[in-house]
Amino acid sequence: MKNIAITINGLQLTGREDMTIFEVAQANGINIPTLCYKSELPPIGACRICVVEVEGSRTLVGSCHTPIAEGMVVHTHSPKVLATRKVIIELLLASHCGTCFMCSKANMCELRSIAADLDMGLPQVPTRRLYYPVEDVSPYVIRDLSKCILCRRCVRACREIAKQNVFAVAYRGFESKIVVDFDQPIDTDVCRDCDVCISFCPTGALSRPSKVTDEKKGRPLIICD
Ligand code: SF4
Ligand code: SF4
Ligand code: FES
Repeated sequence: MKNIAITINGLQLTGREDMTIFEVAQANGINIPTLCYKSELPPIGACRICVVEVEGSRTLVGSCHTPIAEGMVVHTHSPKVLATRKVIIELLLASHCGTCFMCSKANMCELRSIAADLDMGLPQVPTRRLYYPVEDVSPYVIRDLSKCILCRRCVRACREIAKQNVFAVAYRGFESKIVVDFDQPIDTDVCRDCDVCISFCPTGALSRPSKVTDEKKGRPLIICD
């Protein structure tokens, strides 16, 4: 396959013609934050956090799904890019539940990690949150959708990797929500208890019910209460 020359942050680099800007950057140690992207899944360009500036382009482009082109000149951390990423994270935080300090995902949360890298504190825009009750009826997956950022990784991972199709996106705009069937709890007949969706979730929205998992897998059950 043909190699293409591009410039990222002043570095002259080459990449295969089928690579995206993100892939070339990553292969050369240049960090671009992502939320909806995972290398195991086809990119969908949903979250826009991976935006970069391409000289000659009127708008910022999503690096995870934009293929490289000969002579492209890219800036991954220009002032315009950083300002845009901050707005995106700020809006996500403004609609996110405010219980980060008690979240089981803790420092593994990708949203928190990106916010910290951007040196961001509490959101300055008015918060507007949708609270959902924690759904813990499934023996396999606990869903706390107040922490969901609608990246759709669980939808795609369950479909593409677990080969089930448990999740879908329902409703519109601010009301958008990841649902199972007609907004039902996870069906144990369909879910294969593979944990794939949990491992793909960037926030604490999906987690494992630890007691049941231990019991089910034959390990000693520790009762703390
Ligand atoms: S545990 Fe596996 S089968 Fe069940 S919803 Fe998650 S990805 Fe799908
Ligand atoms: S539940 Fe997790 S993986 Fe699924 S859309 Fe929400 S944040 Fe993304
Ligand atoms: S990571 Fe590129 S659009 Fe979400």
